[in-house]
Amino acid sequence: MASLGVNIDHIANVRQARRTVEPDPVTYALLAELGGADGITVHLREDRRHIQDRDVELLRATVRTRLNLEMAATDAMETIALRIRPDMVTLVPERREEVTTEGGLDVGSQIASLGAMVGRLQDEGIGVSLFVDPDPVQLDACCTCGARWVELHTGRYAEARWADQAAELDRLGEATALARQLGLRVNAGHGLTYQNVEPVAALPGLEELNIGHSIVARALAVGLSQAVREMRILIQNPRQDALFGGPADGVPPSS
Ligand code: PXP
Repeated sequence: MASLGVNIDHIANVRQARRTVEPDPVTYALLAELGGADGITVHLREDRRHIQDRDVELLRATVRTRLNLEMAATDAMETIALRIRPDMVTLVPERREEVTTEGGLDVGSQIASLGAMVGRLQDEGIGVSLFVDPDPVQLDACCTCGARWVELHTGRYAEARWADQAAELDRLGEATALARQLGLRVNAGHGLTYQNVEPVAALPGLEELNIGHSIVARALAVGLSQAVREMRILIQNPRQDALFGGPADGVPPSS
């Protein structure tokens, strides 16, 4: 049964729209935990467009579940991670002009540098996950780097047209199985919603789904704790026959 990591970057996006103090992502992390989040995820971007250093420091002191810090694989970010000591670092590619993380890491082209960073963080007791496309070449490279976790990019599945979704789901399932054979532990995320999450949550071997935008969007209607509660129900009791349709009226099942 997959657990749920709630990404709260979009709470910080609203605050940064006015460069003010509210809404405070630290408060909303608590509400997400009250709703049943198994972990809190934030992406400290190099341009600090949403999450700020102060948020990560306070979250480290207040999060009672697990703190997952997404970051670019740079020396400056590594220094911050070693100081903050999140439970998990997820290394992601980062481009300043992108709206959100666009693709997975190309691990194969940077095995030496990524492997060294993975080793240094793991030596300090910080779990490291590499965000990659569901591609066997990337998974092999993650293994070579010494990573123990990967996060599979679900964006292509999430964005696929209905006719292509089954093939993208198969890719995710095959990548999960291969990663497990290679000894890697597997998370997944990006673009997952109340409509498309169930088939992914039903894939054997996936440990955690990281979901942000859709939960924060729903929270505008129902409140964050309730939005997290509803997503958790879908993830933990995915209907095997719910391929791609999701709840007809957008309302998750009640049990
Ligand atoms: N996982 C990673 C590595 C991400 O970069 C993001 C987006 O910040 C997510 C998961 C969550 O994606 P979404 O906001 O589309 O649910």
